Amino acid sequence: SWTMGNIIEEQVAAIREQVGTKRAICGLSGGVDSAVAAALVQKAIGDQLTCVYVDHGLMRKGESEQVEKDFVAATGVQLKVVEAEERFLNALAGVSEPEQKRKIIGREFIRVFEQAQAELVAEAGAEGEEVAFLVQGTLYPDIVESGGGTGTANIKSHHNVGGLPDDIEFELVEPLRQLFKDEVRMVGAELGLPDEIVHRQPFPGPGLGIRIVGEVTKDRLDLLREADAIAREELTAAGLDREIWQCPVVLLADVRSVGVQGDGRTYGHPIVLRPVSSEDAMTADWTRMPYEVLARISTRITNEVPDVNRVVLDVTSKPPGTIEWE
Ligand code: XMP
Repeated sequence: SWTMGNIIEEQVAAIREQVGTKRAICGLSGGVDSAVAAALVQKAIGDQLTCVYVDHGLMRKGESEQVEKDFVAATGVQLKVVEAEERFLNALAGVSEPEQKRKIIGREFIRVFEQAQAELVAEAGAEGEEVAFLVQGTLYPDIVESGGGTGTANIKSHHNVGGLPDDIEFELVEPLRQLFKDEVRMVGAELGLPDEIVHRQPFPGPGLGIRIVGEVTKDRLDLLREADAIAREELTAAGLDREIWQCPVVLLADVRSVGVQGDGRTYGHPIVLRPVSSEDAMTADWTRMPYEVLARISTRITNEVPDVNRVVLDVTSKPPGTIEWE
């Protein structure tokens, strides 16, 4: 029968076969998928693997610290951290169109990985190792929705599938490409990853870059990071983390509405809350979450985040809406 143990054994063998004695790198995003992919590959090839964490400035509050601490503590994997905020923000300057943002972010990721790989090879003094393997936590639904699977959909370029540049120099290792999210979590648990990692809610590789409707700037990211941190804090405090699949917090940067605060008129931005319930992210429903929790989040965001004077709730299922706004 098809058990998690079988899947792990089969993938470990396939990875060894593919990579041989060469070296691989794995981009860690902080999400479940890349963490489980990395743990699987580490099981297969040990320290031939180096994980690379790209801090692209599009992460949520506290996320970088968490990846650097928790994942390394759990797996003992070799980690290389690349600070690339300026690079990503420069590349994204002036861009509002969602697919263009995704393509740019995917391209910059690959360029950073190539650079990291070159540095690692140089450090190891292994000049002859031309073949570079890149591990990706691509899941079955990612492939379907990027138009590369058996389905005909071409909904979004997930950065680790359709969003890759054509001139990529890496050979991809994608040990999760036949799995759905719940199976990935089971594999992660079987590999001994801690609950904090295995049960993390999904977060997209392009990060907050696709949760700002409009141009991505440092100021807007800082603002969204604050709003997102408040929402996450309150959802966790209310014990809703497992019930809610994920709750994107979106900044409508190109929209303003009139408000009143104290004695004054404000003209600020709306923040959208998008709590969804789902089994595999292919379809989803909006979560009927308690009004009191919504009220707390709304009050805190409008009080604590400058330039935000309105919080709205997205009550659209998927389809017709996607989970992320871009
Ligand atoms: P959508 O918005 O297509 O999202 O309904 C489905 C699931 O995929 C996540 N998502 C991504 N994950 N890279 C990722 O690793 C991406 O580019 C990406 N885009 C969307 C999204 O958060 C949801 O869980």
